[in-house]
Amino acid sequence: MNVKIIDSAEEIAKIVSDRIISLVKEKPDCILGLATGSTPLQTYQKVIEKAKKQNVSFLKVRTFNLDEYLDNPIKEQSYRYFMDENLFDKIDIKKENTHFPPFENPAAYDEEILSCGGIDLQILGIGRDGHIAFNEPGTPFDSMTHIASLDEKTIKDNSRFFESIDQVPKKAVTMGLATIMKAKEIILIATGKNKAEAIYKMTQGLDTKTPASILNKHNNTTVYIDNDIRKEIESWKQ
Ligand code: PGA
Repeated sequence: MNVKIIDSAEEIAKIVSDRIISLVKEKPDCILGLATGSTPLQTYQKVIEKAKKQNVSFLKVRTFNLDEYLDNPIKEQSYRYFMDENLFDKIDIKKENTHFPPFENPAAYDEEILSCGGIDLQILGIGRDGHIAFNEPGTPFDSMTHIASLDEKTIKDNSRFFESIDQVPKKAVTMGLATIMKAKEIILIATGKNKAEAIYKMTQGLDTKTPASILNKHNNTTVYIDNDIRKEIESWKQ
């Protein structure tokens, strides 16, 4: 796991969007693992701009998203909706090539990813509690795609997208930690000082209390953090 400190969220988005675009150029039928949330938004915006400017086609690209809410009454809050709005509808990807984990028989998702040849590049954010996808603290490191319950902290964090906290779904279907670890390359993005604690814990070695710490065992993971996180961690040492 390689941690890189970059000046700003915008710079990180430039770097990560460049990596996505260069992979699609190198391997037009690549498999991308994608994340939702506020963190990757700028990256997706830049992917859209660069795909247009550089005439890069996503026609043969297949994507597998990390997770989707269960029992979500609000369509606009679904991760499918988020991805359509913020990426898929703005590039030439075929909708049938964009996948989300199924509510029934979640483990079939792992098989589907495998049968496509595996994820070439997985994009991740991180929760304040150290979760990746909806793998909350305590999730076994060998978990495959499964139904998960959201922690109180996550429900509270995600309530900013809803009218009230009661609307936030309590469950989701998510890639497991072992699913994520099978990706050939992983990029985790963390920006803003409220992610500092999770990043600090993640870099202290393997611990199921910080699910993202599993990435210490991955041989091709880059973690991009911004200066706000660096400054926050440094301030604890003074
Ligand atoms: P965020 O979510 O990008 O909205 O901060 C990250 C996550 O919970 O994984």
